[in-house]
This record gives sequence, structure tokens and C-alpha cells, in this order.
Amino acid sequence: MTGRLDGKVIIIAGAASRGEGVGTGKAMAILSAREGANVLLVNRSVDRAEDLRAEIVAEGGEASVFAGDVSTEADAHAMVATAEERYGKVDGLVNNVGGGIAGTIAEISEEDWDTVVQINLKTAMQGTKAVVPAMLRNVGGSIINISSIVGWAGMIADQGSAAYATAKAALHGLTHSTAANYATQGIRCNCIIVGTVETPMVARLGEEALRRRVEMVPMQTKGTGWDIGHAAVYLLSDEARWVTAVNLPVDGGLIGLRTWPR
Ligand SMILES: NC(=O)c1ccc[n+]([C@@H]2O[C@H](COP(=O)([O-])OP(=O)(O)OC[C@H]3O[C@@H](n4cnc5c(N)ncnc54)[C@H](O)[C@@H]3O)[C@@H](O)[C@H]2O)c1
Repeated sequence: MTGRLDGKVIIIAGAASRGEGVGTGKAMAILSAREGANVLLVNRSVDRAEDLRAEIVAEGGEASVFAGDVSTEADAHAMVATAEERYGKVDGLVNNVGGGIAGTIAEISEEDWDTVVQINLKTAMQGTKAVVPAMLRNVGGSIINISSIVGWAGMIADQGSAAYATAKAALHGLTHSTAANYATQGIRCNCIIVGTVETPMVARLGEEALRRRVEMVPMQTKGTGWDIGHAAVYLLSDEARWVTAVNLPVDGGLIGLRTWPR
């Protein structure tokens, strides 16, 4: 531990990875605890969250589990209340829940569209709405939304989910609105634009697709959940006290070097 988040209370919504390995939520939970934070692990499926808690506690960190669905107002509020009851305040929230259903705009059903918007956007709205009063009581805080390169650049046609790209793009609007609304009250809000990282979420794509995802990256190396976790720790820490309304790509240069030959 180096103490960059010493004494801070951090909520990670969608903390436990959906499968074996290290997703972005799991990485930021482990790294936040290593930096001295008390971490509330929020997840719909409780078993994986309990496993993650055990892993963090075994390393000497502090974490506890809140089981709930953060797309609902009731659970989002209960999540924040639980953090305050257990740890006394809230310093940080990461809106990490996300996922897509394949389909172009012409193909996707209305029901699937609503589901994807709920998973990616409504969870972040509910989490943000619930946490702002607690952060105002705490005289400040840091909120991070987890977006995707497709929210910035559109979905790659052969594996597309137009709904996912749209919902992730909307997170940039939520980020800027939240940052603007609370800039004078000490609440910062930033967005991490996640690149083609290899996590349990994309394992189902198979070896060939995963190889192509690395090929797209200007740096020509594989990104992981840990790369996102390290960026989150920075934005949650006081090192970023003057950083708000930023969309930070962590993507091996994919957005910044879009003209890169490939
Ligand atoms: N892996 C990639 O290549 C990639 C690329 C771009 C963006 N992203 C984004 O990064 C994030 C991936 O995070 P991860 O790797 O930790 O994902 P993950 O899906 O492995 O873990 C997220 C957890 O959230 C839980 N969850 C789902 N809906 C919930 C709800 N309503 N309330 C509470 N919990 C809920 C799930 O049960 C799951 O355990 C997502 O936002 C994703 O869109 C990933």
C-alpha cells in the first residue's frame, strides 16, 4: 500500500467481474483497497462480489459487499446509505456497470434497446443522483463514469451494438453535466473511455476476435482491466483535485492516433 486513497470511501458499482479473470471493476476495487480506501463492492450477483471481498481482505485491505441493482432508484440510494452507515461518508463513486446486445440500429428490438440503455446509462444516472447529496455533505467527491471507445468513435460494424455505442456516448453528456453542475461544490466528474481491453466481459468473442482487437491498437499491445484500474485510482485521488469534465481514453492510442496505419 502506498496510501494514495488513505481513509477514502469508494463505491464501485458493478465491482465483481462476470467471469474468471480481472475486469475493470475488479481491478479498480483491488487497487483502491491497496491504496488505503474502504471499498463498497456493489453487484447484482453477490457470490462473485463476496469472492472479491475475500481477496481484498486477504491482502489486508478493507472492503464490504452491497447486493443490489443500481439501475433502480431504491437500490442506488440504499447503496449510498450503506456506505455512509458502514464508513461514515462517501468520497468516490465509479459507475462501472456496462454491457451490450448486438445489432445495428435497424436490427435492434425496442426491448433490447431499453435494456442496453438501462445497463449502461440508467445505472450511472441513478448512482450519480444518489451519491451527490452524500458528496455535498462530505464537501466534495469524485465520480467516474466508464465509457467505451465505441461511445466516442461508433461501433465497429462487424461486432456492432448501436444501442451500446449510443448509451456510452450519452455518458459523456452525463459526465459534463455533473461536472458543470457541481464544479463549485467540490464534486469532480470524469469519464474513462475504455479501449479494447481483455477482460471476462469480452472473453466470449473468441481468440481470433481478441487477436484483431490487439491489432487495432497503435501500441500493438494488449490492454487489461488493470490499466483502467490505475487510471481510476488517479481520478479518485487528491492528485486529480483540479481535474474534472475530462474524457480520458485508456486505449493504447486508438482514439488519439485514429489515422495510424492498420
Ligand atoms: N472489456 C472491454 O473491452 C470494454 C471495452 C469498453 C468498455 N468497457 C466497459 O468497462 C466496463 C466493464 O467492466 P467489468 O470488466 O468490470 O465488467 P463485468 O461485466 O465483468 O462486471 C460488471 C458487474 O456488474 C454487475 N451488474 C450488471 N448490472 C448491474 C446492475 N444493474 N446493478 C449492479 N450490478 C450490476 C454484473 O453482475 C457484473 O458482475 C463496462 O462498463 C463496459 O461497458 C469494457
